[in-house]
Amino acid sequence: MNYSFPHYLLAKQSVDDRALNKDVVKALQAHLPQRPIRIVEVGAGVGTMLKRLVCWNIISKAEYVMVDKLTENIEYASAWIPQWAEETGLSVERSGKNQLRVFNQAYDIHIQLTQADVFDFIPKNKKSFDVLIAHAFLDLLPMPKSLEKLFMLTNHLAWLTLNFDGVTTFEPTIDTILDKKIERLYHKTMKASGGDSQSGRHLFNYLQKLNAEILAAGSSDWVVHAIGGKYPQDEAYFLHFILHFFEESLKDCKELNKKIFFEWLRKRHEQIENGELVYVAHQLDFLAKVHHE
Ligand SMILES: C[S@@+](CC[C@H](N)C(=O)[O-])C[C@H]1O[C@@H](n2cnc3c(N)ncnc32)[C@H](O)[C@@H]1O
Repeated sequence: MNYSFPHYLLAKQSVDDRALNKDVVKALQAHLPQRPIRIVEVGAGVGTMLKRLVCWNIISKAEYVMVDKLTENIEYASAWIPQWAEETGLSVERSGKNQLRVFNQAYDIHIQLTQADVFDFIPKNKKSFDVLIAHAFLDLLPMPKSLEKLFMLTNHLAWLTLNFDGVTTFEPTIDTILDKKIERLYHKTMKASGGDSQSGRHLFNYLQKLNAEILAAGSSDWVVHAIGGKYPQDEAYFLHFILHFFEESLKDCKELNKKIFFEWLRKRHEQIENGELVYVAHQLDFLAKVHHE
């Protein structure tokens, strides 16, 4: 299988659509300013959240700055955004390599694609945004110091979604003890690479410490299963890619026998092919009001 990160992000869309906490989405809609909104999305990938916010009619007039450190993602976004926008009936204007406008009578969205490490982008940024979006991103970062820096980008709202919260489950069981061990070791690698496998629950405390008011919070679990033996949309690819993450993270782990681990992976991939694998990852969403002293 050819593992492409942009392809994974596209395949993840329908899983995220189901997962996003709709009460938190409603709270976001209720608190958005009634004027063209200025949004910054950090760790934005190829821009799937922008597409979702347009398709779900959550934003219509906005300036949307996407920041991602991977050139591959920004280049993909630059080609892909005009494609879906036109398919949705929106006109597209390009000014410069990384500036796009998608619009019609009801919509007018000015998009800036920025390839940068967000922590280099923050000190250079001159304007404060109405909304900071971090989707499937915060659990990769050292906390709470990263959140404190990210909050410098907003003077109003932070919508912090899909924060992993310590539970990964694959069904059916292959071997109870081995399944648990792989889950535990995978969570440990998240910590070793600077993130937090319980970032969701820890955000309650971090937000309070940073003087941010939680306006809404709720679970946003990924729940992936086949229907009538087939996974919806491109979710079989999503599942294969999740196992690829496991392989990449644990292939050199001293606590795992490589042969046993690779056999476990083979069986899990086979379960996907047979439409048997069920995958659940527990995550939490937040909407917070950011107060600067
Ligand atoms: C799990 S992906 C999520 C992408 C996107 N939010 C989505 O859900 O489709 C995390 C993204 O964060 C980006 N990233 C990681 N560290 C970053 C940093 N320090 N600055 C900017 N982007 C970063 C990666 O390149 C990747 O695209």
